[in-house]
Amino acid sequence: MNRRNILMLVLLSPLYRLIASLVVAAGALGALSLTAAGVRKGGGAGKAAVGEIFLPIPSLSGAMSVEEALSRRRSVRKYLKSPITLSELSQILWAAYGISETKWGLRTAPSAGAIYPLNVYVVVGEGGVLGDGGALGAGVYRYLPHRHSIILLKGGDVRRGLYEAALRQIWVLEAPVSLVVTAQYEKTARVYGERGRVRYVHMDLGHLGQNVYLQATALGLGTVAVGAFDDDGVREVLGLPDGETPLYIMPVGRVARLYRISREELAEYYSRNRSIPLAP
Ligand SMILES: Cc1cc2nc3c(=O)[nH]c(=O)nc-3n(C[C@H](O)[C@H](O)[C@H](O)COP(=O)(O)O)c2cc1C
Repeated sequence: MNRRNILMLVLLSPLYRLIASLVVAAGALGALSLTAAGVRKGGGAGKAAVGEIFLPIPSLSGAMSVEEALSRRRSVRKYLKSPITLSELSQILWAAYGISETKWGLRTAPSAGAIYPLNVYVVVGEGGVLGDGGALGAGVYRYLPHRHSIILLKGGDVRRGLYEAALRQIWVLEAPVSLVVTAQYEKTARVYGERGRVRYVHMDLGHLGQNVYLQATALGLGTVAVGAFDDDGVREVLGLPDGETPLYIMPVGRVARLYRISREELAEYYSRNRSIPLAP
């Protein structure tokens, strides 16, 4: 057996893989100060993969009605310095693209042909997310909708890089967390051709984005859909694979006070506009 074959054998051996996964795990755990047990407590049965965090099972009811969330939603670009909680992150991710039907794995956001060409990444800043067991390690995570978990792809606080790629929009730097939504156009284009590529994928994105806005509002958090950024810059910061295009960055943070409009203000607005004669 030559040296190359021996090397291949070692690389493929279960022992090597165990050692390698322990090394990766040690690195990931350096970034994850939350204990796996603490995180799994609310997350149900199953075994988390290396660097994977099971999120708390999302709540299916809340304190704010959809009407109130719609009326109080605004793009928010100023956040408090405090972190968001792991439960809030869980809820936001579920609202974005989580499972709401278990036979086919349908999601909270509609998708043409139920193809779901979007992926959601989470950029966590240092101390940006607080769980029962402490702060979640800063890094880039990917949301796994069917497991309702996030998996660490890259450790470290990459917010500055993301902010630079986002044409220095300061809310990207200041938010404790940002979601980055990417698209795999081919998935939809394979079924729907050009119409899928230029229309459906972006319609899907809009649904996801609005879900994030409304869920954030209902939790007393703020977000803004950021579409202006350098694609390659975001690709590099996240280490995106080929075939994935970043479409939205959605910083999420706690707000001092939610926007509010009264019914009287709204009535007065409509009344004023109704008094203007319609152009023929
Ligand atoms: C496709 C799209 C791209 C956007 N890009 C940015 C952006 O790069 N930066 C930003 O601060 N806001 C961005 N926004 C937010 C808009 O500025 C905001 O929705 C608009 O001013 C209306 O305000 P509202 O969301 O509070 O109703 C974007 C919104 C959409 C839908």
